[in-house]
Amino acid sequence: MSAERVAFSDVAAQVPVTGSPVPPPDLNRNAELVRSSFVAMAPRLDKVLARFYAVLFSWSPQLREYFPISMESQRDRLARVLNHVVGALDRPDDLVPFLAQLGRDHRKFSVLDEHYPIFGKALLTALAAESGDVWTMEVATAWAQTYQFMAETMAAAARAETTPACWAGEIIEHQRLDRDVAAVRVRTDPPLPYRPGQYVSVETPHRPRVWRYYTPTTAPRADGTIELLVKAVGYGGVSRAIVSSGRAGDTWRLGPALGRLPDQISPDRGLVMIGGGTGIAPIQAILHGMETAGTPPRGAIVYYGARSWEGLHALDNLRSMSYRNRWLDVVPVVQEPPPVSGPEIGQLAETVVRHRTWADRDVLVSGSPAMLRATVGALLTAGLPLERIHYDPFVDD
Ligand SMILES: Cc1cc2nc3c(=O)[nH]c(=O)nc-3n(C[C@H](O)[C@H](O)[C@H](O)COP(=O)(O)OP(=O)(O)OC[C@H]3O[C@@H](n4cnc5c(N)ncnc54)[C@H](O)[C@@H]3O)c2cc1C
Ligand code: HEM
Repeated sequence: MSAERVAFSDVAAQVPVTGSPVPPPDLNRNAELVRSSFVAMAPRLDKVLARFYAVLFSWSPQLREYFPISMESQRDRLARVLNHVVGALDRPDDLVPFLAQLGRDHRKFSVLDEHYPIFGKALLTALAAESGDVWTMEVATAWAQTYQFMAETMAAAARAETTPACWAGEIIEHQRLDRDVAAVRVRTDPPLPYRPGQYVSVETPHRPRVWRYYTPTTAPRADGTIELLVKAVGYGGVSRAIVSSGRAGDTWRLGPALGRLPDQISPDRGLVMIGGGTGIAPIQAILHGMETAGTPPRGAIVYYGARSWEGLHALDNLRSMSYRNRWLDVVPVVQEPPPVSGPEIGQLAETVVRHRTWADRDVLVSGSPAMLRATVGALLTAGLPLERIHYDPFVDD
Protein backbone atom coordinates (compact mmCIF):
# COMPACT_ATOMS: atom_id res chain seq x y z
CA MET A 1 0.00 0.00 0.00
CA SER A 2 1.18 3.49 -0.72
CA ALA A 3 2.07 5.61 2.28
CA GLU A 4 0.92 8.75 0.45
CA ARG A 5 -1.60 11.04 2.01
CA VAL A 6 -5.05 10.22 0.63
CA ALA A 7 -8.05 12.31 -0.23
CA PHE A 8 -11.50 11.89 1.29
CA SER A 9 -12.99 10.41 -1.87
CA ASP A 10 -10.58 7.45 -1.72
CA VAL A 11 -11.68 6.66 1.78
CA ALA A 12 -15.38 7.39 1.72
CA ALA A 13 -15.87 4.83 -1.00
CA GLN A 14 -14.78 2.24 1.50
CA VAL A 15 -17.56 2.83 3.99
CA PRO A 16 -20.23 0.48 2.70
CA VAL A 17 -23.84 0.04 3.61
CA THR A 18 -24.28 -2.07 6.72
CA GLY A 19 -24.86 -5.82 6.56
CA SER A 20 -23.84 -8.54 9.02
CA PRO A 21 -20.82 -7.88 11.21
CA VAL A 22 -17.62 -9.14 9.59
CA PRO A 23 -14.45 -8.66 11.60
CA PRO A 24 -11.83 -6.63 9.68
CA PRO A 25 -9.60 -9.07 7.76
CA ASP A 26 -6.51 -8.19 9.74
CA LEU A 27 -7.78 -7.16 13.13
CA ASN A 28 -4.43 -6.82 14.88
CA ARG A 29 -2.75 -4.92 12.06
CA ASN A 30 -5.74 -2.58 11.77
CA ALA A 31 -5.69 -2.12 15.52
CA GLU A 32 -2.08 -1.01 15.40
CA LEU A 33 -2.65 1.45 12.52
CA VAL A 34 -5.87 2.87 13.98
CA ARG A 35 -4.37 3.18 17.44
CA SER A 36 -1.14 4.89 16.40
CA SER A 37 -2.98 7.35 14.12
CA PHE A 38 -5.53 8.03 16.88
CA VAL A 39 -2.75 8.79 19.35
CA ALA A 40 -1.13 11.13 16.80
CA MET A 41 -4.37 13.05 16.24
CA ALA A 42 -5.43 13.02 19.94
CA PRO A 43 -4.41 16.65 20.58
CA ARG A 44 -6.76 17.70 17.75
CA LEU A 45 -9.63 15.35 18.60
CA ASP A 46 -11.90 18.25 19.63
CA LYS A 47 -11.38 19.79 16.18
CA VAL A 48 -11.95 16.44 14.45
CA LEU A 49 -15.28 15.96 16.19
CA ALA A 50 -16.42 19.56 15.69
CA ARG A 51 -15.66 19.17 11.97
CA PHE A 52 -17.35 15.76 11.91
CA TYR A 53 -20.69 17.11 13.13
CA ALA A 54 -20.39 20.19 10.89
CA VAL A 55 -19.85 17.92 7.85
CA LEU A 56 -22.60 15.49 8.91
CA PHE A 57 -25.20 18.22 9.37
CA SER A 58 -24.21 20.03 6.16
CA TRP A 59 -24.69 16.83 4.17
CA SER A 60 -27.85 15.82 6.02
CA PRO A 61 -29.53 18.81 7.75
CA GLN A 62 -32.48 16.64 8.81
CA LEU A 63 -30.13 14.58 11.04
CA ARG A 64 -29.49 17.71 13.16
CA GLU A 65 -32.96 17.28 14.63
CA TYR A 66 -32.03 13.94 16.10
CA PHE A 67 -29.47 15.61 18.38
CA PRO A 68 -29.93 17.99 21.33
CA ILE A 69 -29.39 21.74 20.96
CA SER A 70 -26.02 21.70 22.72
CA MET A 71 -23.58 19.23 21.14
CA GLU A 72 -20.82 19.71 23.69
CA SER A 73 -21.61 16.71 25.81
CA GLN A 74 -22.28 14.57 22.72
CA ARG A 75 -18.79 15.38 21.37
CA ASP A 76 -17.24 14.34 24.70
CA ARG A 77 -19.16 11.08 24.73
CA LEU A 78 -18.21 10.21 21.17
CA ALA A 79 -14.57 11.01 21.98
CA ARG A 80 -14.65 8.72 25.00
CA VAL A 81 -16.29 5.92 23.03
CA LEU A 82 -13.77 6.21 20.20
CA ASN A 83 -11.04 6.11 22.79
CA HIS A 84 -12.51 2.99 24.36
CA VAL A 85 -13.06 1.29 20.99
CA VAL A 86 -9.55 2.06 19.76
CA GLY A 87 -8.13 0.63 22.99
CA ALA A 88 -10.23 -2.53 22.68
CA LEU A 89 -9.76 -3.27 18.96
CA ASP A 90 -7.71 -6.40 19.56
CA ARG A 91 -10.00 -7.53 22.41
CA PRO A 92 -13.21 -8.62 20.64
CA ASP A 93 -14.58 -10.12 23.87
CA ASP A 94 -14.77 -6.60 25.26
CA LEU A 95 -15.38 -4.71 22.02
CA VAL A 96 -18.30 -6.64 20.54
CA PRO A 97 -20.62 -6.59 23.61
CA PHE A 98 -19.74 -2.93 24.09
CA LEU A 99 -20.69 -1.99 20.52
CA ALA A 100 -23.75 -4.23 20.57
CA GLN A 101 -24.97 -2.46 23.69
CA LEU A 102 -24.33 0.94 22.09
CA GLY A 103 -26.23 -0.15 18.97
CA ARG A 104 -29.23 -1.46 20.91
CA ASP A 105 -29.23 1.78 22.89
CA HIS A 106 -29.25 3.85 19.67
CA ARG A 107 -32.77 2.59 18.90
CA LYS A 108 -34.13 5.13 21.36
CA PHE A 109 -32.60 7.94 19.23
CA SER A 110 -34.57 6.56 16.21
CA VAL A 111 -31.29 5.73 14.43
CA LEU A 112 -31.79 3.47 11.40
CA ASP A 113 -29.38 1.25 9.42
CA GLU A 114 -29.29 3.74 6.58
CA HIS A 115 -27.88 6.47 8.83
CA TYR A 116 -24.61 4.60 9.44
CA PRO A 117 -22.89 5.11 6.05
CA ILE A 118 -23.26 8.91 6.05
CA PHE A 119 -22.16 9.03 9.70
CA GLY A 120 -19.07 6.99 8.74
CA LYS A 121 -18.27 9.09 5.69
CA ALA A 122 -18.49 12.28 7.73
CA LEU A 123 -16.29 10.79 10.45
CA LEU A 124 -13.62 9.63 7.98
CA THR A 125 -13.75 12.98 6.18
CA ALA A 126 -13.11 14.81 9.44
CA LEU A 127 -10.35 12.39 10.44
CA ALA A 128 -8.69 12.77 7.04
CA ALA A 129 -8.92 16.55 7.12
CA GLU A 130 -7.42 16.92 10.61
CA SER A 131 -4.80 14.16 10.55
CA GLY A 132 -2.16 15.73 8.32
CA ASP A 133 0.54 13.36 7.12
CA VAL A 134 -0.63 10.61 9.45
CA TRP A 135 -3.54 9.89 7.08
CA THR A 136 -1.96 7.46 4.63
CA MET A 137 -3.84 5.02 2.41
CA GLU A 138 -3.05 2.22 4.87
CA VAL A 139 -4.39 4.21 7.80
CA ALA A 140 -7.46 5.25 5.84
CA THR A 141 -8.23 1.66 4.91
CA ALA A 142 -7.78 0.49 8.49
CA TRP A 143 -10.19 3.19 9.74
CA ALA A 144 -12.73 2.42 7.01
CA GLN A 145 -12.74 -1.29 7.88
CA THR A 146 -12.87 -0.55 11.57
CA TYR A 147 -15.81 1.84 11.19
CA GLN A 148 -17.59 -0.70 9.00
CA PHE A 149 -17.19 -3.32 11.71
CA MET A 150 -18.39 -0.90 14.42
CA ALA A 151 -21.43 0.14 12.40
CA GLU A 152 -22.36 -3.39 11.44
CA THR A 153 -22.02 -4.65 15.00
CA MET A 154 -24.18 -1.81 16.32
CA ALA A 155 -26.81 -2.10 13.58
CA ALA A 156 -27.00 -5.91 13.77
CA ALA A 157 -27.49 -5.82 17.55
CA ALA A 158 -30.23 -3.19 17.16
CA ARG A 159 -32.01 -5.28 14.51
CA ALA A 160 -31.85 -8.42 16.67
CA GLU A 161 -33.28 -6.75 19.77
CA THR A 162 -36.91 -7.53 20.56
CA THR A 163 -37.44 -5.40 23.67
CA PRO A 164 -38.88 -1.88 23.30
CA ALA A 165 -36.51 0.92 22.22
CA CYS A 166 -37.68 2.89 25.27
CA TRP A 167 -40.33 2.95 27.98
CA ALA A 168 -42.68 5.73 29.06
CA GLY A 169 -42.35 6.39 32.78
CA GLU A 170 -44.38 8.56 35.13
CA ILE A 171 -42.92 10.15 38.23
CA ILE A 172 -45.10 8.96 41.08
CA GLU A 173 -43.03 10.47 43.90
CA HIS A 174 -40.45 13.25 44.05
CA GLN A 175 -38.79 13.95 47.38
CA ARG A 176 -36.26 16.74 47.75
CA LEU A 177 -33.64 15.48 50.23
CA ASP A 178 -31.69 18.74 50.26
CA ARG A 179 -30.93 21.62 47.90
CA ASP A 180 -29.07 19.40 45.45
CA VAL A 181 -30.46 15.90 45.85
CA ALA A 182 -33.85 14.31 45.15
CA ALA A 183 -35.16 10.77 45.52
CA VAL A 184 -37.42 10.04 42.56
CA ARG A 185 -39.77 7.11 42.07
CA VAL A 186 -40.80 6.40 38.48
CA ARG A 187 -43.27 3.80 37.22
CA THR A 188 -43.03 2.27 33.76
CA ASP A 189 -45.73 0.11 32.23
CA PRO A 190 -44.73 -2.55 31.28
CA PRO A 191 -41.90 -2.80 33.84
CA LEU A 192 -38.46 -1.96 32.46
CA PRO A 193 -36.27 -5.05 32.96
CA TYR A 194 -32.85 -4.61 34.54
CA ARG A 195 -30.34 -6.43 36.71
CA PRO A 196 -29.41 -4.93 40.08
CA GLY A 197 -26.40 -2.68 39.50
CA GLN A 198 -27.39 -1.67 35.96
CA TYR A 199 -28.31 1.90 34.99
CA VAL A 200 -30.94 3.37 32.67
CA SER A 201 -30.94 6.46 30.49
CA VAL A 202 -33.58 9.08 30.99
CA GLU A 203 -35.04 11.86 28.84
CA THR A 204 -37.15 14.41 30.72
CA PRO A 205 -39.66 16.96 29.41
CA HIS A 206 -37.36 19.71 30.75
CA ARG A 207 -34.52 18.91 28.30
CA PRO A 208 -35.91 17.17 25.21
CA ARG A 209 -33.47 14.91 23.32
CA VAL A 210 -30.94 15.10 26.15
CA TRP A 211 -30.43 11.69 27.71
CA ARG A 212 -28.62 11.08 30.99
CA TYR A 213 -27.91 7.91 32.97
CA TYR A 214 -29.34 7.21 36.42
CA THR A 215 -29.03 4.05 38.49
CA PRO A 216 -31.93 2.32 40.26
CA THR A 217 -31.29 1.96 43.99
CA THR A 218 -33.35 -1.23 44.35
CA ALA A 219 -33.61 -4.58 42.59
CA PRO A 220 -36.46 -4.68 40.01
CA ARG A 221 -39.95 -4.58 41.48
CA ALA A 222 -43.03 -6.39 40.14
CA ASP A 223 -45.04 -3.14 40.11
CA GLY A 224 -42.59 -1.56 37.64
CA THR A 225 -41.46 1.19 40.00
CA ILE A 226 -37.85 2.34 39.90
CA GLU A 227 -36.23 4.47 42.60
CA LEU A 228 -33.44 6.87 41.70
CA LEU A 229 -31.21 9.19 43.69
CA VAL A 230 -30.42 12.26 41.59
CA LYS A 231 -27.78 14.83 42.51
CA ALA A 232 -27.85 18.18 40.73
CA VAL A 233 -24.50 19.17 39.24
CA GLY A 234 -23.76 22.38 37.37
CA TYR A 235 -26.54 24.63 36.11
CA GLY A 236 -29.03 24.15 33.33
CA GLY A 237 -28.50 20.43 32.89
CA VAL A 238 -30.86 17.50 33.30
CA SER A 239 -29.98 16.78 36.92
CA ARG A 240 -30.71 20.33 38.14
CA ALA A 241 -34.05 20.28 36.30
CA ILE A 242 -35.02 16.93 37.85
CA VAL A 243 -34.07 18.02 41.36
CA SER A 244 -35.54 21.54 41.22
CA SER A 245 -38.49 21.24 38.84
CA GLY A 246 -39.38 17.54 38.71
CA ARG A 247 -42.73 16.60 40.21
CA ALA A 248 -45.21 13.74 40.42
CA GLY A 249 -47.06 13.41 37.12
CA ASP A 250 -44.06 14.28 34.90
CA THR A 251 -43.62 11.84 32.04
CA TRP A 252 -40.14 10.61 31.15
CA ARG A 253 -38.74 8.30 28.52
CA LEU A 254 -36.36 5.64 29.78
CA GLY A 255 -33.91 3.64 27.67
CA PRO A 256 -33.02 -0.04 28.10
CA ALA A 257 -30.85 -1.01 31.06
CA LEU A 258 -27.12 -0.91 30.50
CA GLY A 259 -24.03 -1.78 32.45
CA ARG A 260 -21.84 -4.70 33.28
CA LEU A 261 -21.40 -4.58 37.04
CA PRO A 262 -21.70 -8.16 38.34
CA ASP A 263 -24.71 -8.55 40.64
CA GLN A 264 -23.43 -11.83 42.11
CA ILE A 265 -19.78 -12.47 42.83
CA SER A 266 -18.12 -15.64 44.14
CA PRO A 267 -20.20 -16.82 47.12
CA ASP A 268 -17.03 -18.33 48.64
CA ARG A 269 -15.32 -15.04 49.28
CA GLY A 270 -16.51 -12.05 51.24
CA LEU A 271 -17.36 -8.84 49.48
CA VAL A 272 -16.17 -5.26 49.96
CA MET A 273 -18.36 -2.65 48.26
CA ILE A 274 -17.12 0.90 47.91
CA GLY A 275 -19.57 3.60 46.83
CA GLY A 276 -18.93 7.34 46.52
CA GLY A 277 -21.82 9.85 46.32
CA THR A 278 -24.63 8.65 44.06
CA GLY A 279 -22.28 5.80 43.10
CA ILE A 280 -23.85 4.06 46.09
CA ALA A 281 -27.01 3.43 44.00
CA PRO A 282 -25.88 0.23 42.22
CA ILE A 283 -24.51 -1.11 45.52
CA GLN A 284 -27.89 -0.56 47.20
CA ALA A 285 -29.61 -2.33 44.30
CA ILE A 286 -27.22 -5.29 44.40
CA LEU A 287 -27.61 -5.65 48.19
CA HIS A 288 -31.39 -5.39 47.87
CA GLY A 289 -31.26 -8.08 45.15
CA MET A 290 -29.19 -10.41 47.36
CA GLU A 291 -31.52 -9.80 50.30
CA THR A 292 -34.74 -10.44 48.39
CA ALA A 293 -33.35 -13.45 46.49
CA GLY A 294 -31.95 -14.93 49.73
CA THR A 295 -28.47 -15.25 48.18
CA PRO A 296 -26.22 -13.34 50.58
CA PRO A 297 -22.45 -13.33 50.16
CA ARG A 298 -20.27 -14.84 52.88
CA GLY A 299 -20.04 -11.38 54.36
CA ALA A 300 -20.25 -7.87 52.93
CA ILE A 301 -18.81 -4.61 54.11
CA VAL A 302 -19.91 -1.37 52.47
CA TYR A 303 -17.72 1.73 52.56
CA TYR A 304 -20.01 4.63 51.72
CA GLY A 305 -18.37 7.99 51.20
CA ALA A 306 -19.47 11.59 50.74
CA ARG A 307 -17.89 14.93 51.36
CA SER A 308 -20.01 15.65 54.45
CA TRP A 309 -22.16 13.71 56.91
CA GLU A 310 -25.27 15.40 55.50
CA GLY A 311 -24.36 14.08 52.04
CA LEU A 312 -24.74 10.43 53.09
CA HIS A 313 -28.35 10.29 51.86
CA ALA A 314 -28.48 6.51 51.55
CA LEU A 315 -27.01 5.80 55.00
CA ASP A 316 -30.34 5.21 56.80
CA ASN A 317 -31.39 2.76 54.11
CA LEU A 318 -28.07 0.90 54.25
CA ARG A 319 -28.15 0.76 58.04
CA SER A 320 -31.69 -0.67 58.07
CA MET A 321 -30.50 -3.31 55.62
CA SER A 322 -27.56 -4.03 57.89
CA TYR A 323 -29.85 -4.42 60.96
CA ARG A 324 -31.93 -6.96 59.02
CA ASN A 325 -28.94 -8.86 57.66
CA ARG A 326 -26.11 -10.04 59.90
CA TRP A 327 -23.86 -10.56 56.88
CA LEU A 328 -23.78 -6.82 56.14
CA ASP A 329 -21.68 -4.06 57.75
CA VAL A 330 -21.70 -0.41 56.74
CA VAL A 331 -18.82 2.05 57.26
CA PRO A 332 -19.61 5.71 56.53
CA VAL A 333 -16.65 7.78 55.34
CA VAL A 334 -16.65 11.58 55.19
CA GLN A 335 -14.04 14.14 54.24
CA GLU A 336 -15.23 16.96 56.52
CA PRO A 337 -15.22 16.41 60.31
CA PRO A 338 -18.76 15.13 61.12
CA PRO A 339 -21.12 16.36 63.86
CA VAL A 340 -21.30 12.80 65.26
CA SER A 341 -18.66 10.27 66.21
CA GLY A 342 -18.34 7.04 64.27
CA PRO A 343 -17.59 7.68 60.62
CA GLU A 344 -14.13 7.27 59.19
CA ILE A 345 -12.60 10.56 58.06
CA GLY A 346 -10.69 10.88 54.79
CA GLN A 347 -10.92 10.02 51.12
CA LEU A 348 -12.60 6.69 50.33
CA ALA A 349 -9.52 5.47 48.43
CA GLU A 350 -7.15 5.82 51.38
CA THR A 351 -9.71 4.81 53.99
CA VAL A 352 -10.53 1.40 52.54
CA VAL A 353 -6.90 0.28 52.53
CA ARG A 354 -5.99 1.97 55.83
CA HIS A 355 -6.39 -1.14 58.02
CA ARG A 356 -6.74 -4.04 55.57
CA THR A 357 -5.51 -5.16 52.14
CA TRP A 358 -8.68 -7.22 51.43
CA ALA A 359 -6.60 -9.95 49.79
CA ASP A 360 -9.29 -12.54 50.61
CA ARG A 361 -12.22 -10.53 49.21
CA ASP A 362 -13.87 -9.50 45.99
CA VAL A 363 -14.14 -5.75 45.78
CA LEU A 364 -16.77 -3.78 43.90
CA VAL A 365 -16.20 -0.07 43.28
CA SER A 366 -18.74 2.51 42.09
CA GLY A 367 -18.50 6.28 41.84
CA SER A 368 -17.25 9.13 39.68
CA PRO A 369 -14.42 8.46 37.22
CA ALA A 370 -11.99 10.27 39.56
CA MET A 371 -13.12 8.23 42.55
CA LEU A 372 -12.83 5.01 40.53
CA ARG A 373 -9.30 5.80 39.39
CA ALA A 374 -8.17 6.71 42.92
CA THR A 375 -9.81 3.71 44.59
CA VAL A 376 -8.78 1.07 42.06
CA GLY A 377 -5.25 2.52 42.15
CA ALA A 378 -5.13 2.32 45.96
CA LEU A 379 -6.39 -1.29 45.94
CA LEU A 380 -3.83 -2.35 43.34
CA THR A 381 -1.06 -0.62 45.28
CA ALA A 382 -2.23 -2.48 48.39
CA GLY A 383 -1.65 -5.74 46.49
CA LEU A 384 -5.17 -6.78 45.45
CA PRO A 385 -5.12 -8.51 42.04
CA LEU A 386 -7.03 -6.71 39.29
CA GLU A 387 -9.33 -9.69 38.67
CA ARG A 388 -10.76 -9.29 42.18
CA ILE A 389 -11.68 -5.64 41.58
CA HIS A 390 -15.03 -5.16 39.86
CA TYR A 391 -16.30 -1.93 38.36
CA ASP A 392 -18.33 -0.94 35.36
CA PRO A 393 -15.89 -0.35 32.52
CA PHE A 394 -17.92 2.51 31.12
CA VAL A 395 -19.12 4.76 33.89
CA ASP A 396 -17.23 7.76 32.60
CA ASP A 397 -19.66 10.56 31.91
C1 LIG B 1 -23.25 4.86 34.47
C2 LIG B 1 -23.71 6.15 35.11
C3 LIG B 1 -24.62 6.12 36.12
C4 LIG B 1 -25.02 7.31 36.74
N1 LIG B 1 -25.91 7.25 37.78
C5 LIG B 1 -26.27 8.41 38.39
C6 LIG B 1 -27.18 8.39 39.50
O1 LIG B 1 -27.69 7.34 39.93
N2 LIG B 1 -27.50 9.59 40.07
C7 LIG B 1 -26.97 10.78 39.64
O2 LIG B 1 -27.31 11.82 40.20
N3 LIG B 1 -26.14 10.82 38.58
C8 LIG B 1 -25.78 9.67 37.94
N4 LIG B 1 -24.94 9.74 36.86
C9 LIG B 1 -24.53 11.05 36.33
C10 LIG B 1 -25.63 11.55 35.35
O3 LIG B 1 -25.74 10.67 34.25
C11 LIG B 1 -25.34 12.94 34.74
O4 LIG B 1 -24.06 12.95 34.17
C12 LIG B 1 -25.43 14.04 35.76
O5 LIG B 1 -26.74 14.05 36.31
C13 LIG B 1 -25.10 15.40 35.10
O6 LIG B 1 -25.96 15.61 34.02
P1 LIG B 1 -26.51 17.11 33.72
O7 LIG B 1 -27.21 17.07 32.40
O8 LIG B 1 -27.25 17.64 34.87
O9 LIG B 1 -25.19 17.94 33.64
P2 LIG B 1 -24.35 18.32 32.34
O10 LIG B 1 -25.08 19.37 31.58
O11 LIG B 1 -23.95 17.08 31.65
O12 LIG B 1 -23.12 18.98 33.06
C14 LIG B 1 -23.26 20.24 33.71
C15 LIG B 1 -21.92 20.63 34.32
O13 LIG B 1 -21.63 19.80 35.45
C16 LIG B 1 -20.39 19.12 35.24
N5 LIG B 1 -20.57 17.75 35.74
C17 LIG B 1 -21.15 16.72 35.08
N6 LIG B 1 -21.19 15.62 35.86
C18 LIG B 1 -20.62 15.97 37.03
C19 LIG B 1 -20.36 15.29 38.25
N7 LIG B 1 -20.71 13.99 38.42
N8 LIG B 1 -19.77 15.96 39.26
C20 LIG B 1 -19.42 17.25 39.11
N9 LIG B 1 -19.63 17.98 37.98
C21 LIG B 1 -20.21 17.34 36.96
C22 LIG B 1 -20.15 19.13 33.76
O14 LIG B 1 -18.76 19.09 33.47
C23 LIG B 1 -20.76 20.46 33.36
O15 LIG B 1 -19.88 21.50 33.58
C24 LIG B 1 -24.51 8.54 36.28
C25 LIG B 1 -23.61 8.57 35.22
C26 LIG B 1 -23.19 7.39 34.65
C27 LIG B 1 -22.21 7.43 33.53
C1 HEM C 1 -20.24 3.66 14.84
C2 HEM C 1 -21.17 4.60 14.85
C3 HEM C 1 -21.59 5.39 16.06
C4 HEM C 1 -20.97 5.59 17.25
C5 HEM C 1 -19.63 5.05 17.74
C6 HEM C 1 -21.83 6.43 18.04
C7 HEM C 1 -21.58 6.84 19.35
C8 HEM C 1 -22.47 7.52 20.13
C9 HEM C 1 -22.31 7.78 21.52
C10 HEM C 1 -21.13 7.34 22.36
C11 HEM C 1 -23.38 8.45 21.97
C12 HEM C 1 -23.67 8.92 23.40
C13 HEM C 1 -24.56 7.88 24.02
C14 HEM C 1 -24.86 8.15 25.44
O1 HEM C 1 -23.99 8.53 26.20
O2 HEM C 1 -26.04 7.97 25.81
C15 HEM C 1 -24.24 8.63 20.86
C16 HEM C 1 -25.44 9.30 20.92
C17 HEM C 1 -26.18 9.59 19.82
N1 HEM C 1 -25.97 9.13 18.54
FE1 HEM C 1 -24.48 7.93 17.93
N2 HEM C 1 -22.94 6.76 17.31
C18 HEM C 1 -22.83 6.14 16.10
C19 HEM C 1 -23.73 6.20 15.07
C20 HEM C 1 -24.80 7.06 15.04
C21 HEM C 1 -25.63 7.28 13.91
C22 HEM C 1 -25.48 6.59 12.56
C23 HEM C 1 -26.56 8.20 14.26
C24 HEM C 1 -27.62 8.75 13.36
C25 HEM C 1 -27.97 9.92 13.26
C26 HEM C 1 -26.32 8.54 15.65
C27 HEM C 1 -27.07 9.41 16.40
C28 HEM C 1 -26.94 9.63 17.74
C29 HEM C 1 -27.84 10.48 18.54
C30 HEM C 1 -29.05 11.24 18.04
C31 HEM C 1 -27.35 10.46 19.83
C32 HEM C 1 -27.92 11.19 21.07
C33 HEM C 1 -27.19 12.46 21.28
C34 HEM C 1 -27.25 12.97 22.70
O3 HEM C 1 -27.97 12.43 23.55
O4 HEM C 1 -26.55 13.94 22.99
N3 HEM C 1 -25.24 7.83 16.08
N4 HEM C 1 -23.66 8.07 19.75
